[in-house]
Amino acid sequence: MLMEFGTCYGRTAALLTNLRGMFEPFNFTRKLIVFDTFSGLCGTNEKDGSDRLAADGAYSAGDGYERHLEEVLSYHESEAPIAHRKKFEIVKGDAAKSITAYLAEHPETIVAMAYFDFDIYGPTKACLEALRPHLTKTSVLAFDELNCPEYPGETTALSEVFGLGKCSLKRSPFSPWMSYTTCESIVG
Ligand SMILES: C[S@@+](CC[C@H](N)C(=O)[O-])C[C@H]1O[C@@H](n2cnc3c(N)ncnc32)[C@H](O)[C@@H]1O
Repeated sequence: MLMEFGTCYGRTAALLTNLRGMFEPFNFTRKLIVFDTFSGLCGTNEKDGSDRLAADGAYSAGDGYERHLEEVLSYHESEAPIAHRKKFEIVKGDAAKSITAYLAEHPETIVAMAYFDFDIYGPTKACLEALRPHLTKTSVLAFDELNCPEYPGETTALSEVFGLGKCSLKRSPFSPWMSYTTCESIVG
């Protein structure tokens, strides 16, 4: 599974849909599951610092945006092989709660890549904890805000759940923020 935590307008979700179409056109088991409230950040606390955009409600995509995103991702999917099989799911709501329900409904979930872009501590920590039994050594955990002073919560969540010392973080020289780790040390 590809999972995106904090999809907002679906920019990364559309990109991942097209990358799958290009590089794995016949892999209909490579599903993309995206999580968002669509009403902005939810569950900020003191571990998220004081930036004005580290506050509940920031980054709201707007009322009913999930319906538009459903159309957008369906269109992108229609441009690749096996278009008749739906390969994405949008999970609306506070992911700190919806992740548990999703994984209970889908115990078959194995994470190929989980991309974290909630920006904040609470839901990042809850989702990292929930994903632990669904990770393999080659699972990729990617993050948008590690080592970010405006959004310290994402780093704190990773540190508390897996320990930074268990991560082999890599970063592109072309991107100031995004980083990723595989899970060899995390799953033991
Ligand atoms: C910076 S935006 C994501 C940007 C997006 N990944 C992109 O590539 O354009 C952060 C998103 O996380 C979502 N979010 C924050 N807290 C959440 C929570 N507890 N549950 C679900 N979504 C949440 C917000 O609604 C917002 O859309």
